[in-house]
Amino acid sequence: MPARKPRAPKVPPAPSPSNGFLNVVDERTGTNYRLAVEDGAVRATDLHQIRAKPEEPGLLSYDPSFTNTASCRSAITFIDGDRGILRYRGYPIEELAASKSYLEVAYLLIHGSLPTKSQLSEWLYHITHHTMLHENVQKFMDGFHHDAHPMAMMVSTLAALSTFYPDAKNISDEHIRYQQAYRLIAKVPTVAAFAHRHSTGMPYIHPSNDLSYTENFLAMMYRPSWTTQYTPDPVLAKALDTLFVLHADHEQNCSSNAMRAVGSSHADPYSCAAAAAAALYGPLHGGANEQVVRMLQEVGSKERVPQLIRQVKEGRRLLMGFGHRIYKSYDPRARLIQQIAEEVFAVTGRNPLIDVALALENIALSDDYFISRRLYPNVDFYSGIIYQAMGFPTDMFPVLFAIPRMSGWIAQWIEMLQDPEQKIARPRQVYIGLPERHLEVTGVRVPVRRPARTVDTRPRSRAPGPTPAR
Ligand code: ACO
Repeated sequence: MPARKPRAPKVPPAPSPSNGFLNVVDERTGTNYRLAVEDGAVRATDLHQIRAKPEEPGLLSYDPSFTNTASCRSAITFIDGDRGILRYRGYPIEELAASKSYLEVAYLLIHGSLPTKSQLSEWLYHITHHTMLHENVQKFMDGFHHDAHPMAMMVSTLAALSTFYPDAKNISDEHIRYQQAYRLIAKVPTVAAFAHRHSTGMPYIHPSNDLSYTENFLAMMYRPSWTTQYTPDPVLAKALDTLFVLHADHEQNCSSNAMRAVGSSHADPYSCAAAAAAALYGPLHGGANEQVVRMLQEVGSKERVPQLIRQVKEGRRLLMGFGHRIYKSYDPRARLIQQIAEEVFAVTGRNPLIDVALALENIALSDDYFISRRLYPNVDFYSGIIYQAMGFPTDMFPVLFAIPRMSGWIAQWIEMLQDPEQKIARPRQVYIGLPERHLEVTGVRVPVRRPARTVDTRPRSRAPGPTPAR
């Protein structure tokens, strides 16, 4: 069983512009409370001491969808949504995209610093030598219906991998944790390519150790058979690698939150990754890239863009690939992806959907509906157009997002396990249902025991913690 984590020491916040105290007056009782502000945040549990009557439960903070609640302290990814800034471990995304490979960035996210030459060669060795799937995983994948969505196959196969590596349950062993990191990062492109080959009825192409991460993935996707030669285009392999850098992590997004929440119950990392992939599948998250291309295909031409904008403004549909919970200015990844698109089109020919997308962006960004709501293109707006030009089928797009996000999920999972403040994720609720009532049996009231008194008898000197709940 995993060892208990040490309790976090209670340290007073250090003096800094974002530290200090917040004085709160409860107008119901006239009581004054002094709450510590640390790194720009108050602790929600500090609100618990605030109560109108001693017998009432303490004050909760209510934040559906976590729009203004920090669930952790993290040192992995920094986003300034107002200024369009994204950094991994302090490095601007633009610098990493220009000069580092996806696997170097994956190492950076997980280990906190870029690899030295020897660390990189060891890292590449481990990733390259864990790409194979057990024959029984192939058989498992064979069982899917021919038209199964590849992302659903990905979600299920990640969960199935848990049964092949039962030692992964030992999450408190650092060596075992890193072994699963190698396996997950190495195997996710193989699972993705096999899902595609299964849906097209093509033979599975096994991984090649002499190819780079993205060349290998392209070969597993497109090589017709083992007896047919296939050389991945270096420009496309590089472009895909850069896209993987841009998608590797994005702090506490829906899927990373799922990875952490499931991991907080000490589930094995394959089960956690399956949950994270399931969260990514949704059209409001990683599934948006697929929906953007379907939307652009439906619009078909620049001339029909105003009609789509009208439907969006009338609230009849969403403009897919637009808007973000954190970015209230241009998503820096969308800007970089536009540049990659031109490099890819030089090889593949121009995808005509790019002109529809550019016209859509132009019209949207000069329309008050989008300006007033600060809605800009996000990472998914242009990525699908590039994937389509590279020959990926539309339903593979969320899968292409899941491959690089695996490194971010693992980094978030390891950080969560090592954080002494983290416990099982278990939000509270504001109950809005009926008060106690009783069953009637043929007009006779069922006798019930009187409920126990709920008066809080704990000493008032101690700040009461939240009611234990499981
Ligand atoms: N099209 C039209 N209107 C939008 C859009 C959109 N894409 N996104 C937000 N809005 C509107 C909302 O209707 C709301 O308007 P209102 O104030 O009149 O009610 C306002 O903008 C604020 O939107 P919220 O829903 O509060 O924003 P939230 O932060 O909850 O949602 C989300 C963010 C889910 C990304 C949303 O913008 C969306 O659905 N976008 C389309 C799907 C998409 O592209 N998802 C990918 C996100 S990036 C990623 O996950 C990798």
